Formats: sequence, C-alpha cells, structure tokens
Amino acid sequence: MNIGVLASGRGSNFQAIIDAIREGKLSAKIVVLITDNPRAFAIERACKYGIPHIVLNPADFASREAFYDRIAAELRDRRTELVVLAGFMRIVGRPLIAAFPNRIMNIHPALLPAFPGLHGQKQAVDYGVKISGCTVHFVDEGMDTGPIIIQAAVPVYHDDTEETLSERILKLEHKIYPEAIRLFSEGRLEVHGRIVRIAGGEREDFSVVNPSF
Ligand code: GAR
Repeated sequence: MNIGVLASGRGSNFQAIIDAIREGKLSAKIVVLITDNPRAFAIERACKYGIPHIVLNPADFASREAFYDRIAAELRDRRTELVVLAGFMRIVGRPLIAAFPNRIMNIHPALLPAFPGLHGQKQAVDYGVKISGCTVHFVDEGMDTGPIIIQAAVPVYHDDTEETLSERILKLEHKIYPEAIRLFSEGRLEVHGRIVRIAGGEREDFSVVNPSF
C-alpha cells in the first residue's frame, strides 16, 4: 500500500510509521512526505530513510483550494492509496478530501469529540478531566470530526502539565497509529456513516486502555 504523509513539525508519528514498516509490522511504502513547513524536523527523517519530500508553502498559492489541489495532485501522481496526517496543523481543504474520501487519517491528542483543534492536551489539563488519550480518525471537512477508528486512554494526574500529559499520550499515539494503518492496509476498516467497524476484529481492537502509565 502506498502511503503519503503530511506533517508540519517534529514528525515522531511519521517516525513510528517508518519504524513499523522497517520492523515488518506494516506492509506499506511511504511514497512522499509533504510539509507546509520548511523547518519541519520530519524532513530530516524523510531524508534519513530516502523518502522523497516536498515543501509547499500555502502563501505561494492563489487560494486555499489551489494549495489542496496541488497536494492532491502530488499524491495522485505517486499512486497514493492512503493519506496520513502526522501532526499536520491545518484543516484539510475540500479538494484533498474529495480526492481521497475515507482515505485520509489523522491522529489527535485527545479523546474526541472532547478537545478538538489545537493543544488538545492543554485543553484536557485545564478542564480537569481525569482521563484523556488519543484518537485516530478518518478526516472529513470538519475539525477533528470524522469517523473514529481507534482510541487509547491514559490517566490525567492532578500535577500533570501540558508537557507531562503530552508525553504520556504520545507513547500511545505511536502504538495506535501504525495499528490503524495496518488495519486499513488489510482492507479491514468498514465505514458505515460515523461508525467504523473492523472486519474480523475483536472488541479490544477499537480501544486501548492502559492504566499502567
Ligand atoms: C501529536 O501529538 C499529534 O497528535 C498532534 O500533534 C503532535 C505531532 O507530533 N496533532 C494535532 O494536534 C492535530 N490537531 P509529531 O510531529 O511528533 O508526530
């Protein structure tokens, strides 16, 4: 399966996917990294593993549509079958969603629909929830609103900061994202409206609760 990755920053989720492929846990090829940030550390990761990368600055495009049209074209040219958002800090535009319906995944650092948008971990700390986590979902035109594939939960402690909670959540992000991609690559994700079913899956495949953190 050909994967195209979109990332804006550090790219640790991008790295987790690279690692899963290299370890033989995921049968896929990353055909391109596309970034909107010329200083993204994800670019260094791509170079290290010989993955082609493209930097596209939205300011160079006449409109938001034109920016996403170009991304869709770059992905199509490389026969991309799944688009993976790995810390891509923009709301995906219509042309890209239309080009890859139910073929774009995102990971969000909160238990959606709680705390969408930026700084999901800080929102959870500030709100005082006792449990948070991360969510892999298909992308639709809303902000973090698409059908949920897998979620994982972690405790939130009274002395947590955005940083400590982010670190605890990130460990699970790196587990569930490659897992969701693997299920997709095996053709096992069935989308029925908002509901995603895992063909041949166990109940446990959908959620991870890890009280040991
Ligand atoms: C991750 O925590 C991811 O869940 C979050 O950004 C971080 C990217 O880290 N994404 C969002 O907040 C999207 N709304 P990474 O660049 O090391 O993968």
